[in-house]
Amino acid sequence: MNRVFMKTVSSVKPFSLVIFGASGDLAHRKLFPAVFELYLQGLLGESFSVIGYARSEKSRGDFVEFFRTSLSDHGKKFEEESQAWERFAAKLEYVSGAYDTQDGFIRLAQLLESLEARNLSHGNRVFHFSTPPQVFDDISTHLSELNMAVCTPGGICSRIVIEKPFGRDLASARELNRRLNKAFLEKQIYRIDHYLGKETVQNILSLRFTNVLLESVWNHRYIDHVQITVAESLGIGSRGGYYDQLGCTRDMVQNHLCQLLCITAMEPPNYIDSDEVRDEKVKVLKAIRPFEGCFDQCAVRGQYGSSADGSAKGYRSEEGVLPHSTTETFAACKLFVDNWRWAGVPFYLRTGKCMSSRRSEIFLQFKEIPKNIFSAQQSLAPDGVLMRLQPDEGVSFVMKAKVPGPEMNLRSVEMGFDYATSFAERSADAYERLIYDAILDKPALFIRADETETSWALFDPLLNHWRDTPPGDFPNYAALSDGPAAAEELLKRDGRRWFSRS
Ligand code: BG6
Repeated sequence: MNRVFMKTVSSVKPFSLVIFGASGDLAHRKLFPAVFELYLQGLLGESFSVIGYARSEKSRGDFVEFFRTSLSDHGKKFEEESQAWERFAAKLEYVSGAYDTQDGFIRLAQLLESLEARNLSHGNRVFHFSTPPQVFDDISTHLSELNMAVCTPGGICSRIVIEKPFGRDLASARELNRRLNKAFLEKQIYRIDHYLGKETVQNILSLRFTNVLLESVWNHRYIDHVQITVAESLGIGSRGGYYDQLGCTRDMVQNHLCQLLCITAMEPPNYIDSDEVRDEKVKVLKAIRPFEGCFDQCAVRGQYGSSADGSAKGYRSEEGVLPHSTTETFAACKLFVDNWRWAGVPFYLRTGKCMSSRRSEIFLQFKEIPKNIFSAQQSLAPDGVLMRLQPDEGVSFVMKAKVPGPEMNLRSVEMGFDYATSFAERSADAYERLIYDAILDKPALFIRADETETSWALFDPLLNHWRDTPPGDFPNYAALSDGPAAAEELLKRDGRRWFSRS
């Protein structure tokens, strides 16, 4: 029997999912595999349609084939899933049309109505904007003018799901929000930060808010400081032209790393599946001390040059990048969340491209014990809680233990769990979870307008300062290394260092 028939689905209501930018890279790499996987898991039911919309002229058959290629590129074995695929493919539709004129949208509206009559989905629509932000405004305007994304008298509101970047600074984020809010209610707007769809990130909430042991030490009394590292081993690949306009602070820090900080630092919401999660995150963002007065002491930027062994080229030699580009591919900063829980506890954030390994983790380092009763010569790595977000997902307490033997020698050990051995269940891709939540109309894992704006308000002054003081030392770290020396200095000045498991 096919897997899809083995589960009962109760909560999903019949729906239509429209993917704008359906011939694009994101749809091909992430959205199509995620939607099909949700179907295979039995989570979508049978009463739905998925409609691709893009400029490219394609027949429905071509689109079905394109969708299928995306799945096989992601290792899907059609022999095993052939029955499910046939049923799923029958739910696929395609509309080719422009974004700057209404014609295609009128055809889309007609198609939606006929599909809704068949699926009985009563205006339960999700529109995923998987397009460059330049066309967000056109899409919103047409959807709004044609009343395609409305709240029905039955209480169902269509949702629009949009991808970052949500602006490139506070002014543009506000303008984007203003335009979106002109066309839709805020509760209809689902801004994606795919980090919130990651299992290991959601697990931070369950770890914190179900374990008395952890929650009781999760504050300034026991935590010396927090480190958030998102190191990527790859460079910018074929995205040079795009990335060079952005840099790593806009691409990663203002959104993904800030979200990790919020989840780590926030107060418990009253309920987990509610808007209160977002209220709590905004409170954290508002409590972060502004950079003003501490730009050069509190933040570091970097750009990779070629690797020491010559195997990886430098950023300025990447395709689409200006030869004298001053765009940062690495950023680190020290932030303070000036509230009761975190008073005086620095949060060190760092992220970079082309680093020595791919590693995303959060480390909360405990304070020193009041008195060392063991040999003073034993200098050991500090204790803490390590949340390994990817790869090698897991959580551990880093602590000291006595090495067996006649002497009282201590060594750092870890006590914890690995996803690979603790759970038989597969971890869903972040997009699976987020698309599923958008279909279920559950906004808790999406970004609200005030979150993006508060976060931009924090980083704007730093970005302006960097713009006005071009770096004289770029490139300042070798590809496949651990980043610029200044990032080590950032912690060293405070008598600390970046955590390393080895
Ligand atoms: C994206 C950034 O949002 O996140 C990319 O634009 C980055 O530059 C990517 O590589 C990292 O995501 P993940 O899930 O691979 O850690």
